Amino acid sequence: MMSKHHPKSQKPSARVAPAKGRLGVLLPGMGAVTSTFIAGVELCKKRLGQPIGSLTQMQTIRLGKRYENRAPLIKAFVPLARLEDLVFGGWDLFPDSVYEAAVKCGVLAPDQFRPVSKELSAIRPMKAVFDPAYLRNLKPTHLKKYPNKWEAAQQVIADIAEFKRKNRVERLVMLWCGSTEILPKPSPVHATVKAFEGGLKADSPEITPSMVYAYAAISQGIPYANGAPNLSADFPAMVELSERTGSPIAGKDFKTGQTLMKTTIAPMLKARMLALRGWYSTNILGNRDGEVLDDPGSFKTKEISKTSVLDTILEPELYPALYGRYHHKVRIDYYPPRGDAKEGWDNIDIAGWLDMPMQIKINFLCRDSILAAPIVLDLVLFLDLAGRAGLRGIQEWLSFYFKSPQCRPDLKPENDIFIQHLKLKNTLRLLMGEEVIDHSGLDYYDPVRGTPKPVPSPRPAPMRSGKTRLAR
Ligand SMILES: NC(=O)c1ccc[n+]([C@@H]2O[C@H](COP(=O)([O-])OP(=O)(O)OC[C@H]3O[C@@H](n4cnc5c(N)ncnc54)[C@H](O)[C@@H]3O)[C@@H](O)[C@H]2O)c1
Repeated sequence: MMSKHHPKSQKPSARVAPAKGRLGVLLPGMGAVTSTFIAGVELCKKRLGQPIGSLTQMQTIRLGKRYENRAPLIKAFVPLARLEDLVFGGWDLFPDSVYEAAVKCGVLAPDQFRPVSKELSAIRPMKAVFDPAYLRNLKPTHLKKYPNKWEAAQQVIADIAEFKRKNRVERLVMLWCGSTEILPKPSPVHATVKAFEGGLKADSPEITPSMVYAYAAISQGIPYANGAPNLSADFPAMVELSERTGSPIAGKDFKTGQTLMKTTIAPMLKARMLALRGWYSTNILGNRDGEVLDDPGSFKTKEISKTSVLDTILEPELYPALYGRYHHKVRIDYYPPRGDAKEGWDNIDIAGWLDMPMQIKINFLCRDSILAAPIVLDLVLFLDLAGRAGLRGIQEWLSFYFKSPQCRPDLKPENDIFIQHLKLKNTLRLLMGEEVIDHSGLDYYDPVRGTPKPVPSPRPAPMRSGKTRLAR
């Protein structure tokens, strides 16, 4: 039987269990991104805001041939949890409620989230797992006490069980929205589950707090994603654990401002075989994330995540003349007056026919957390879907949302936003037993079999002008 939560147009899939009951959303790190995300969802629930930027809420998906005119909303096509069924919880280094965090971060004006102030004030973070070796610029006040990292993980597992019981949630997902950690030294503790569990018990210095949260979630079969560039679940032990417990995992680092631009422009340059000679990117940012990134250790983690995208898109090994010697520089400067309203500048030096130089300039006045919040929502809903569809381990189809997509070690990550988008939608089609769309289209003009007959649309969607919309 179809879930009463979903519109009639949604076909039930044998491969995906229905989204029954409440979904617990656990967020280690309750700062700018988390508070903007939760405030937005609560406002949307009351029809006081629009979830702009969210594919799960606003995008349609084409099904079948263009003349079939089938393009339901994604949320009407795949069985996703409803916003009304989301319950939020999390951990932070500071005891501020989500309301207080939203006021302090200043992403939204307090007037905007006043209608949901009761809901936001009721969400208080649990005490955090912390290690000053991995985060130097913050002085936390809201911490757990534990003799070693194994006990820390057990406390997080107990928090999760208590949250589940108290809030009567059926399922859970966890998303790291905490600060960017300094990268740990590579160590044998990251190699296998056995070594990692031994490392937790031995309080290994190479295990970071975000790894402790990831372990707590994944060991319980809870889907886990990482919105920051630190490793967290991107190492062999955690991949092994996720495959064993059936937990879908994804990461790393939400693709929001400048990398969103980079992974959109670079595919165009490559598609048109225009050469790249240099790409200089600089940002000013004044929120707590900017403060953390002011530490060279945390910046290094971010820099790796931001710089690798161009090479994987442009493939200099295949096109040495076009992309073999470009200069790529990324800077982030902490500049408090701007708060969360980041400004990014890109200067792109390109070359065309006969190596004639040209330039592209981008000045993106974006709002970091406004771009990140819909990504958090989509990841929550898609990870929960993946769990119900029995998908386990790395979910590369969610690369669309990340600067530095986690993938199998023998594969190159896919950073081209258009390929990522196609991959995401085709995965949804496959999950629901629909045809994959490759946009090849020769069969529309097949002289032997003839062009397939158009099927009249059951309900042609009227355009604003009153004319019937043509098949795409
Ligand atoms: N804002 C964006 O657009 C964007 C884009 C990509 C990635 N990110 C990443 O997402 C993360 C969150 O960004 P933000 O702007 O909300 O930052 P933020 O500084 O406002 O919030 C991060 C919160 O994490 C908490 N925290 C740090 N370590 C913790 C721990 N061990 N346990 C529990 N809580 C911990 C901090 O106290 C802080 O409140 C950052 O790592 C950032 O780099 C953000």
